[in-house]
Amino acid sequence: MSEKPVVIALDGPAAAGKGTLGRRLAAHFGYAYLDSGLLYRAVGWRMLTDGLDPADSDAAAAVAAALTEEDLNSKELREDRVANAATIVAAHPAVRQALVGYQRRFAAAPPRDAPGAVIDGRDIGTVICPEARCKIFVDAHVDVRARRRLKELQDRGVESIYSRVLRDMEERDARDRNRPIAPLAPADDAFQLDTTELDADAAFDLAVDFITARNKPDKS
Ligand code: C5P
Repeated sequence: MSEKPVVIALDGPAAAGKGTLGRRLAAHFGYAYLDSGLLYRAVGWRMLTDGLDPADSDAAAAVAAALTEEDLNSKELREDRVANAATIVAAHPAVRQALVGYQRRFAAAPPRDAPGAVIDGRDIGTVICPEARCKIFVDAHVDVRARRRLKELQDRGVESIYSRVLRDMEERDARDRNRPIAPLAPADDAFQLDTTELDADAAFDLAVDFITARNKPDKS
């Protein structure tokens, strides 16, 4: 039987650099990559397109239970209105419950028989895969994250202003950090990677060093 897949849990607030880092780590180690935020975004997006209120927990749970792969591919998932709906549906315990299985299956049996999985989110190291060998909590000062998000939006041709992006980000962070279920928080054994003053290459190098050290045979 093949070895248990290595799981790299990458948690942290919005625009801290998890997505870029996660994709690079997955490519570097030959692991599969899952952006778990897409699951919550897809639920939020379906609620909005179906004219449902994201605060309606029963409706959101039903949407989460019926999610398809196709729902994860919508271009609209990246929009900020969808991100906001995502943080609202993500606070419903029944929604989180409906999405646990998909994420744990991805970790236990990554697609294409990859020997490991990189999963980014908010609760991967604390709730979804508490036994993950490598947990990294990626964070950065909120001003820096808001500037990065603004640039990302402008690069996509979306008109935005800094103060609005900052306010949205602070609201979303507060909802994620303060919700009673699976709040955004570093696991006790997470490596805390603050990218406030790091570029993507420096963050990647530090993460690779950490993962390589954790995966040495004597640490298993
Ligand atoms: O990562 P992303 O910004 O795409 O996530 C959108 C929202 O989905 C987050 O603000 C959070 O409310 C929710 N989420 C979550 N748990 C995860 C991933 C995302 O609650 N593992």
